[in-house]
Amino acid sequence: QADLPPGYKIRPLASDDYERGFLDTLTVLTEIGDISKAQFLERFNYLKQHNHEYFTIVILSPDDRVVGAGTVFVERKFIRNTGLVGHIEDIAVNKNQQGKKLGLRCGKSINGLLTIVLSSYIQSPGAAANLILINVFIVLHLTYLVLTVILDCSEKNVPFYEKCGFTRKEVEMAWYC
Ligand code: ACO
Repeated sequence: QADLPPGYKIRPLASDDYERGFLDTLTVLTEIGDISKAQFLERFNYLKQHNHEYFTIVILSPDDRVVGAGTVFVERKFIRNTGLVGHIEDIAVNKNQQGKKLGLRCGKSINGLLTIVLSSYIQSPGAAANLILINVFIVLHLTYLVLTVILDCSEKNVPFYEKCGFTRKEVEMAWYC
């Protein structure tokens, strides 16, 4: 729970976070749609079964509401000696909670979100939040050979991710069909 304001918690997404406003938190990203609890659970259960590859964490406020979220997925490559690439996705902080360093806590380079996610590969569920992240990173780095962490973001979020330790690289292209 280091670096969080008093009373805030960080942990893996749980099946009852639907009731805690998880989807409301994601509305800062884009349109969410009218997702039922059954739809949420179907996606949640799929991701849980694949939590060695997809992992979502949430930040809870002192009144037990989800106010921040972020996801990592791990891509398995042939290149770089069958290396792994971590992708950081959908970092979101509720509008009325922005500016409290919750985003930074969610997205801060590998020592933040990715470390929590990858540490969950080898730790029991929920244990990640108690780990000393920097040490875990070193262990994970050796264990999983994560070479790169990539994310796409809008131009306006570039300064935020630079504060998280990322640097601008290459060009993103999209094809909408
Ligand atoms: N431009 C410049 N600086 C910024 C910005 C920005 N857009 N956002 C945050 N910062 C700075 C803060 O000023 C702070 O700087 P400081 O440490 O010098 O004081 C630092 O970055 C950390 O800010 P936080 O308080 O941790 O940011 P916050 O909790 O508000 O979260 C976030 C930032 C996640 C971008 C939030 O504004 C948000 O949810 N935005 C809408 C959704 C979004 O765009 N998410 C990113 C999508 S891209 C992706 O997920 C890969």
